[in-house]
Amino acid sequence: MSDVVSYERDGDIAVITVDNPPVNALSLPVRAGLANAFAEFQQDANAKAAVLICAGRTFIAGADITEFDKPIEDPWLPTVVEQIESCSKVVVAAIHGTALGGGFETAMACHYRCALPSAKVGLPEVLLGLLAGATGTQRLPRLIGVKDALDVMISGKPMAAPLALERGAIDKIVDGDLRTGAIAYANSLISDNAQPRRISEIVINPASIPDRFFDDYRKGMARQTRGFFAPEQIVKCVEAAVTLPYAESVKRENELFMTCMASTESKAQRHLFFADREISKIPDVPKDTPTRSIEKVAIVGGGTMGGGIAMNFVNVGMPVQLKEINQEALDRGLSIIRGNYEVAVKNGRLSEAQLEKNMAMIDGTLDYADIAEADIVIEAVFENMALKKEIFATLDQTCKAGAILASNTSTLDIDEIAAATQRPQDVIGLHFFAPANIMTLLEIVRGAKTSKDVIATSMQMAKTIRKSAVLVGCCFGFVANRMFFPYIREAQLMILEGISPERIDQVAFDWGMAMGPNGVSDLSGLDVLEKVRTEWTERPDDPVFFRMITKLSEQGRMGQKSGAGIYKYEGRKAVPDPEVAKLAKAEAEALGVKQIEVSDEEIIERLFYSMINEGALILEEGIALRPSDIDVVYANGYGMGRYRGGPMWYADTVGLKNVRDAMLKYRDRYGDLYWTPAPLLEELANAGKTFDQWNLER
Ligand code: 3HC
Repeated sequence: MSDVVSYERDGDIAVITVDNPPVNALSLPVRAGLANAFAEFQQDANAKAAVLICAGRTFIAGADITEFDKPIEDPWLPTVVEQIESCSKVVVAAIHGTALGGGFETAMACHYRCALPSAKVGLPEVLLGLLAGATGTQRLPRLIGVKDALDVMISGKPMAAPLALERGAIDKIVDGDLRTGAIAYANSLISDNAQPRRISEIVINPASIPDRFFDDYRKGMARQTRGFFAPEQIVKCVEAAVTLPYAESVKRENELFMTCMASTESKAQRHLFFADREISKIPDVPKDTPTRSIEKVAIVGGGTMGGGIAMNFVNVGMPVQLKEINQEALDRGLSIIRGNYEVAVKNGRLSEAQLEKNMAMIDGTLDYADIAEADIVIEAVFENMALKKEIFATLDQTCKAGAILASNTSTLDIDEIAAATQRPQDVIGLHFFAPANIMTLLEIVRGAKTSKDVIATSMQMAKTIRKSAVLVGCCFGFVANRMFFPYIREAQLMILEGISPERIDQVAFDWGMAMGPNGVSDLSGLDVLEKVRTEWTERPDDPVFFRMITKLSEQGRMGQKSGAGIYKYEGRKAVPDPEVAKLAKAEAEALGVKQIEVSDEEIIERLFYSMINEGALILEEGIALRPSDIDVVYANGYGMGRYRGGPMWYADTVGLKNVRDAMLKYRDRYGDLYWTPAPLLEELANAGKTFDQWNLER
């Protein structure tokens, strides 16, 4: 008998249990175990029906993603699900946790489905650049209708049990013990003489689908799915479900699944799936590192950033104290938070009552003494070292022993800030990304003296407030901004070279960024970027560096917030401004910058290879733990399309030799200040290796 799938009988009911921790993924032994168990059920004259159930925290959560890069071994999943469906006696799936992907496909092969009220079912393959290739794209439209099935598969969002019941994706909700309830359900089906119900036998009447339905659906999803490969393949599968006989459309699904599997986009998305989980593994801070209790949270600075940070805690039910310097600033901060919640109320995401409840969880104060008992204090004032040191010295005087003192600095030296206190072991960087209540990334900056329990507590706290936390070392700009500067630097230089900001942004957008570098600069605030430039004591000795940012902010053009920056703004709409082109030309003349024509390819290379080279330096210096951590930073913090896999993965797909050679081309043109390949890049390019291989081999 299989180690991971067991067969037993409970009266007339065969109970087939999958037990493959942690998430009962459908690895080869599970597929083989299921095939054997269902064969035994067919043969077992004493079993009148079967219940398929799982041990541990969840029903089957899908195919085993770690097997995807290996050759497929029999029995493969589509065969197993057909075997389950073809059983001549009733099969009931008993679902708890999450029945996802291949797990839900297995459940749909069962003739009836029951679930705990807390269970969820769905087909999230699209998030891995795949489609539900074990008949999921064929069964779900037959089960819940074409439109709802497409919505589920294109969004990848699971359905909670009550919604699944309403849509007919499950047949019954079981309260109490699942196994007992599922066996009772199977017995009741036998008493009612219920027959196996096979979804594959349902025929979708093509006449029930409105004319142009699929064209309209494609148009509707275009914005959300831009750049991704799998969504279109999913639509094609559902079209096949409507127009072709079941056996043929399953064949079509299989072909398209294989195409998705081989796509660069899917490989990148699968890489990020594991990268997102890898970030929590810190070699010298193991999972059992003791943590401090975090119940009382205080934030110093109630501006846009501080307010956004406060909302993260309030949203998970944790009260927050907000410390400001005067009543006016405090009132303004609170009103920004209220405004954000009001938008949520307007969009139907929050009730009026919840808004008031949330606001009541924020306690404003002007006095440091009031936050003396906080377990963690997060400083979120503007980027100025002298000010931050002053605040930390005060916190050191007032806060209780053992409190974590965190800075939301996006660039500055955590060790220097920590040195303003007598307790550098309690000081850490928590760099939130704007808007802090929305962006999921949190860069956790470890100082030279930060203690391990402070790191472990910060990582745990990030989970509580639903952030994806990447631990980084200390240097100017850490990982996120340090790699962002070369990207902005090149965008700035290109403007001086006569390339329009809107063209640069369009090329970056088409490549996969949520927004181009110039739009982002305007959104961040040119004054903020200028401040960062001036605070950066070791900035490049180069008058061209960030030139337009300096000149435009001198003119009071601070970006979106002042109605003009690199663009002019009509509301939030960016409009090209001839004045900026004029200024760029004059500055280029003054600085001796040549006007040039560039290809789209050059724009991409200069923006991203400069960023990647900085990433290679960061890896060499040990500022990031792994290349995949950098990829998570860019996918989660800067809206880099997940189908690119992050900058370091993208470099691997381009080939590091190609990246290095392009750098040398630009070094010939611009000199070696910015375009000297990092030693690690040089070494890997020469060895024909990738960052990913380097990471695995070291
Ligand atoms: N295959 C292999 N490993 C998996 C896995 C899978 N499908 N799903 C999760 N894991 C691993 C994770 O990598 C992690 O490993 P680690 O501890 O070594 O880092 C461990 O299981 C626990 O996962 P999480 O940390 O994510 O645990 P959570 O409790 O937070 O979440 C979950 C559980 C909701 C099931 C989440 O893991 C998840 O969403 N998994 C992916 C589900 C999915 O995408 N299924 C579709 C797969 S593709 C498919 O089925 C193709 C088919 O149509 C042919």
